[in-house]
Amino acid sequence: MTLKNFRFFFNNELTHLYPKTEIDAFFFRVVEDKLGFSLMDVFIKGDSIINNLQLKELSEIIKRLKKEEPVQYILEKTEFYGLPFNVGPSVLIPRPETEELVSWVIQDIKSQEQSISIIDIGTGSGCIAISIKKNTLNTNVYAMDISIDALKIAKENMKKNEVDVTFIHQDILQLTKLNRKIDVIISNPPYVRDLEKKEIKNNVLTNEPHLALFVSDDNPLVFYKHIADIAKNSLNTNGVLYFEINQYLGAETKTMLLDKGFKNIQLKKDLFGNDRMIKANL
Ligand SMILES: C[S@@+](CC[C@H](N)C(=O)[O-])C[C@H]1O[C@@H](n2cnc3c(N)ncnc32)[C@H](O)[C@@H]1O
Repeated sequence: MTLKNFRFFFNNELTHLYPKTEIDAFFFRVVEDKLGFSLMDVFIKGDSIINNLQLKELSEIIKRLKKEEPVQYILEKTEFYGLPFNVGPSVLIPRPETEELVSWVIQDIKSQEQSISIIDIGTGSGCIAISIKKNTLNTNVYAMDISIDALKIAKENMKKNEVDVTFIHQDILQLTKLNRKIDVIISNPPYVRDLEKKEIKNNVLTNEPHLALFVSDDNPLVFYKHIADIAKNSLNTNGVLYFEINQYLGAETKTMLLDKGFKNIQLKKDLFGNDRMIKANL
């Protein structure tokens, strides 16, 4: 089959499930990864032949896309902050909103001349910790997660991106303070309430780790309150705390931080205009 015909087939197979723009995005990703064709190649090398072995592998991918498995899990990779990351079902697929949080932190710290220490709590794929380390000088970066499987992937990503991050296996809810003083704490903890499950896309609900996503309706800020307490006990003077937050809980998160005595609290919206991140000083 030619590449051109395969594109037609790929579209036909998925058209009842996804919008055209998404099918195109999957197609370009899949043929680049599995056949080595760039976006440009797709248009100028349409007569290239896809052999039977390749077709077999591509058909398996179509089958998985039909089951609404995220393409990032199928290809076992994604990009975050312009860097390559491995992903699998034990880690959340990094989101663009989180890139905005990382960008905020990097802007704030990149002109620092003294060495500073940073911890990413709930690191998952390691995307926050690794992209901060990759884009800053003089930083000692630590990253923590409760999931051993997630930490395994995060360590692969550290090697892939040729940086040094110290990973710690720890349930954050069992800690009252970190075992070293730290300058910056950053966290994108689980924050989706059970009541919001109905807003969540089926492919997220079925495939992404619930441990990374959900909190109970009656205590949705459980991680934020706990990490804020840890921050009070562990941040150095002038230390900073950054969170990615639930878009519906911006005001509550800000009030909680004020009540705990944090200062200079800044709530920031993401590109979609939703309250998505917050920064506070000790
Ligand atoms: C929303 S995900 C964020 C992952 C990654 N930092 C990102 O931004 O894509 C939350 C992470 O917190 C971890 N986590 C959940 N409960 C935890 C706990 N009690 N202690 C430490 N980490 C926890 C999950 O395993 C998951 O990796």
